[in-house]
Amino acid sequence: MENINAVITGVGGYVPDYVLTNDEISKMVDTNDEWIMTRIGVKERRILNEEGLGTSYMARKAAKQLMQRTNSNPDDIDLVIVATSTGDYVFPSVASILCDKLGLKNAFAFDLSAACSGFLYLMETGASFIRSGRYKKVIIVGADKMSAITDYTDRATCPIFGDGAAAFMLEPTTENVGIMDAILHTDGKGLPFLHMKAGGSVCPASYFTVDNHMHYVYQEGRTVFKYAVSNMSNVSAEIAERNHLDKDSINWVIPHQANMRIIDAVANRLELPLDKVMINIQRYGNSSAATLPLCIWDFESKLKKGDNLIFTAFGAGFTWGAVYVKWGYDGKEQ
Ligand code: COA
Repeated sequence: MENINAVITGVGGYVPDYVLTNDEISKMVDTNDEWIMTRIGVKERRILNEEGLGTSYMARKAAKQLMQRTNSNPDDIDLVIVATSTGDYVFPSVASILCDKLGLKNAFAFDLSAACSGFLYLMETGASFIRSGRYKKVIIVGADKMSAITDYTDRATCPIFGDGAAAFMLEPTTENVGIMDAILHTDGKGLPFLHMKAGGSVCPASYFTVDNHMHYVYQEGRTVFKYAVSNMSNVSAEIAERNHLDKDSINWVIPHQANMRIIDAVANRLELPLDKVMINIQRYGNSSAATLPLCIWDFESKLKKGDNLIFTAFGAGFTWGAVYVKWGYDGKEQ
């Protein structure tokens, strides 16, 4: 039997119109553009600020564009998986809302929770369904409305995050392209350093939790930074070595867009110049599960069939990893 690979056949994306600049953030908390640019690297971020709209709104826009770009018939979609930490509701899933909004009658759908590494986990999970031979069209979406869980009175976290969504279509191929390899890790000991204190079953919402700002991202920045640098660098080097890739044969690295200094460290470790690294952190900030596919959405026109791509991310859990993709088509200006 021929080997089935899962190939990415298209990308769709969406970022909200509202642009939150560093100057505006400087009016909310004691900070300034220079500190944010030097320590994080974010100039502005997009915010979904219309009342009543949640993560599924952005996911729907991204998936709709993906369906158009891949000429997909809604009836042909077998599966939808959404990575998010900011679902519209605790339940049901964003994925099930998405199925309804997109009119997908033959798909089953669920959400996947792996924080900022969500899209890495999605690529490997979605690819496994395709490789099984039973599913022909799988939509994977990374979507987060981080502004919903960002404390705009906390200067240590509020400059970092933004909102966005982007999606890939995965399909089977017998060609030697697609999602080739993945190294994924989880270490639950990371919990104290990065989490949301209330709103889950351990500490449900109450007046106390609201008064004490417990429904926002809590992060011990320095610790998370240290683990992100070493783990993203190590796992990227490991997947490159395991697949006999070096600085000449790697065409692109797509790192999670959390901090420009982390991106620099990963590029240094792989000995890659920054023009081989997809970077849009300055425009969108950290949109958690959406950062990796949003990079591809922005850089798609530069991609060529056969290009070697390494995706890497680190997030709450801790979760981290790297995915090696051999790109499946020549990108064009959209
Ligand atoms: N403006 C000005 N000063 C600020 C500030 C801001 N927005 N935020 C923090 N500071 C101050 C701190 O109060 C501290 O002051 P002090 O020395 O007087 O106590 C100083 O800057 C240094 O703070 P520190 O937290 O050590 O800064 P840092 O260089 O580690 O940068 C982060 C903070 C959050 C940007 C950085 O730690 C980081 O990016 N962490 C990783 C985040 C990440 O990757 N998350 C991934 C998963 S989502």
